[in-house]
Amino acid sequence: MSEPDRRYGPATLPTARGPLSAAVVQALRHPPHELPADLGVGLYPADPITDEDLQLTLFLCYELHYRGWLGVDESWEWQPTLLALRARCERVFETALRRLVGAPSVPAAGVAAGLTELVAADDGPALAATLQRRADLTQFREFVAHRSVYHLREADPHSWALPRLGGPAKAALVEIQTDEYGNGRLDRMHAELFRSTLDRLGLDTGYGAHIDVAPAVTLATNNLMSLFGLHRRLRGALLGHLAAFEMTSSLPNRRYGNGLRRLGFDEVATRFYDEHVEADAVHEQIAAHDVCGGLVRVEPALASDVLFGAAAGLAVDRLFAAHLLDSWAAGRSSLRAPAPPAVPPKVSLVAAPAVASPAPSALV
Ligand SMILES: [Fe+2]
Ligand SMILES: [Fe+2]
Repeated sequence: MSEPDRRYGPATLPTARGPLSAAVVQALRHPPHELPADLGVGLYPADPITDEDLQLTLFLCYELHYRGWLGVDESWEWQPTLLALRARCERVFETALRRLVGAPSVPAAGVAAGLTELVAADDGPALAATLQRRADLTQFREFVAHRSVYHLREADPHSWALPRLGGPAKAALVEIQTDEYGNGRLDRMHAELFRSTLDRLGLDTGYGAHIDVAPAVTLATNNLMSLFGLHRRLRGALLGHLAAFEMTSSLPNRRYGNGLRRLGFDEVATRFYDEHVEADAVHEQIAAHDVCGGLVRVEPALASDVLFGAAAGLAVDRLFAAHLLDSWAAGRSSLRAPAPPAVPPKVSLVAAPAVASPAPSALV
């Protein structure tokens, strides 16, 4: 049998980050079998959202429901003892998320107004402004490597909502997802546009190529979507997450594109970001009013879940942004070692607009 196309997965199994992920990685290298019944029992790390071992263990389990892992028996996806371990990890993760954001109350004006309030109150660190104005090439490449974990499968976690919905919310979600998947054209799929950005920046474009260097907080931004996406009971949270995502996308994406232009990159590198400036200005309206509003009109009891999902997405994204900015401020890489492969970046020959020199990077 020929090797699968690396661009589309499955990814290579990552390196373990602690005893739990080591046990899972080791198990996955063999045919499906029972895991020790006490694996992960009593687990409660000090900070589950930034715990490397917990987040990688969750990511290992979740990926079995996306593209799987290279060389790993596909029957692991439904192996009961692995699912039981995943459930133990999920309880810890979900409890931490609920502690982080509490239970947002639904305003009288409705769920769309509640989403707008949450987004307006989001005072996250200025990651987009830094990438636009000051980040050097090394830092921008780090940001892109982090985000590749999601963008190379962009929209997939939210697609899990589709079979769980009917009526107006489903129709509206299909409208958004159709755009995300390029209206059926491979070269317009957002994941493919992002692959071009990776390529232009000289980074590995393979599916899951940067998992090993992605720290826990980056994996947590992904695990959050998988947790919401894989549990029908959390469908409200999944759609709230999507709405918050779309409502906080347009302006930052303009800034990311401008940051790449400042660094001298061409429109092939910036297309992914440029595309989102226009698309997400539309998507945010559809997501808040038609998807989330449509869901709550049919299932009013899900309104607070919608706001929980949105608040959790915004909160974990704030932690992600703080991690990058704090690392850079301290002169450290925001990635785990090893750094992405040092391929010369494909900087365009288009002259970059004159700007002040970017701050020198302390990163190698
Ligand atoms: Fe997109
Ligand atoms: Fe979008």
